[in-house]
Amino acid sequence: MTAPRKLHIKSYGCQMNVYDAQRMVDTLAPEGFVETANAEDADLVILNTCHIREKASEKVYSELGRLRLAKEEAAKQGKEVRIAVAGCVAQAEGEEIIRRAPVVDIVVGPQSYHHLPQLLRRAAQDGRAVETEFPIEDKFTALPQPRPAAIRARGISSFVTVQEGCDKFCTFCVVPYTRGMEVSRPVARIVEDVMRLADNGVREITLIGQNVNAYHGESEDGATWSLGRLLHRIAAIPGIARLRYSTSHPRDVDDALIEAHRDIPAVMPFVHLPVQSGSDRILAAMNRKHSASDYLRIVDKFRKAREDIAFSSDFIVGFPGESEEDFAATLALVRQISYAAAYSFKYSPRPGTPAAELEGMVTASVMDQRLARLQELIDSQQAAFNAAAIGTTVDVLFERPARNPGQIVGRTAYLQPAHVIAPPDIIGQVRPVAIESLERYSLLGTLADTPPPADRLSMSSLPTGA
Ligand code: SAH
Ligand code: SF4
Ligand code: F3S
Repeated sequence: MTAPRKLHIKSYGCQMNVYDAQRMVDTLAPEGFVETANAEDADLVILNTCHIREKASEKVYSELGRLRLAKEEAAKQGKEVRIAVAGCVAQAEGEEIIRRAPVVDIVVGPQSYHHLPQLLRRAAQDGRAVETEFPIEDKFTALPQPRPAAIRARGISSFVTVQEGCDKFCTFCVVPYTRGMEVSRPVARIVEDVMRLADNGVREITLIGQNVNAYHGESEDGATWSLGRLLHRIAAIPGIARLRYSTSHPRDVDDALIEAHRDIPAVMPFVHLPVQSGSDRILAAMNRKHSASDYLRIVDKFRKAREDIAFSSDFIVGFPGESEEDFAATLALVRQISYAAAYSFKYSPRPGTPAAELEGMVTASVMDQRLARLQELIDSQQAAFNAAAIGTTVDVLFERPARNPGQIVGRTAYLQPAHVIAPPDIIGQVRPVAIESLERYSLLGTLADTPPPADRLSMSSLPTGA
């Protein structure tokens, strides 16, 4: 038998890329590839790239520079290493990548990676293979299913893609160009995927899509289901303790989604709902198609449906033409909502997007200063949100051994990491934890439904963790 070939994948960008990377591993497993954490060992290195901001997409080229040296070194020892670029930079730049970095053998877009085995053969034959089409066939039906051992190795929480692409065309964003038009997967396929995951120990599912609440998939009887309806169906699958979804657009929030938070205990009270800006003028220039007060109304509706609900968001500072007044409106909105967490980015002009043509570029120093002010406000809200957990008892879904010996780490409903001393068999269980303290972003506590285990457990008998 030939030795297994080794595959190393490095993913950048969003949750969609994390999911795609796993599916690439599943696609290449029948070809005899096993995953390695070490790029130096690999026969095939895949960079699964992100094009969202200039910094993200330029990272690829510095990584390719390093890989060129590794490839040359391996060649001296008679080993052939292949390099593939996948993801959104592959889609956006195509052949150009090989021109700029001739070390690359394969370029494959996010809609074609199920063809990786054929592309590898083509690269072996012709030296190069590029595929960035949006093929007619559905890659999900073509992809091999993950093996049970692979599912178990990935842990108790899993992403499942339900929708891909985006038709919103926010003026700053490359996603509609790199991921294509919005497509929803049929309900039955998603249910099959979740059942297979649940059968192999997965307890938490995050339904993902570039615009996940635009979901409008076909059900078995030919009806069109919204995300709210889909959540009801997935929650009924035995073994699924927690359900999340990401990323949502405010425009696509409907009553069924809000009611799902009220009616389905498994749907977690934590919603990532990017708003980008608090200024109506900037929101209009971004083509977000809603106002700041529309957003506040939606948040209010969620809060009425479930009072313990919390929010996270994305923000862009320094969009072309953003004045101090516009930025102040963003700060005001953040103060009004009070986020549990949020990401903020400096505007980065992207090739081919309408905003890249706009005048009124905000200077780098103003952008830096606004980013710092926004982050300071968000950090203080996040710190207050986390500190509020101290002294309360919260449900934690345990995921894995922590770095500290004897500790197991899990997550609260709000994705805060929570550490307890406990035996590893609590992994996969949702257990109440009395939160005692906060260390940076991590909560520390004890299991509230059993006596403190410290006196019963010998620390040396526990695994030292991952
Ligand atoms: N589909 C999601 C996320 C898209 S990308 C949504 O609609 O919200 C993730 C985040 O990157 C965006 O929410 C936005 O805040 C940021 N982003 C996108 N394009 C950007 C750009 N050109 N410059 C800076 N940040 C950007
Ligand atoms: Fe990009 Fe806007 Fe689509 Fe989000 S909704 S992916 S920001 S175009
Ligand atoms: Fe990046 Fe593509 Fe995701 S551009 S954020 S990897 S959809």
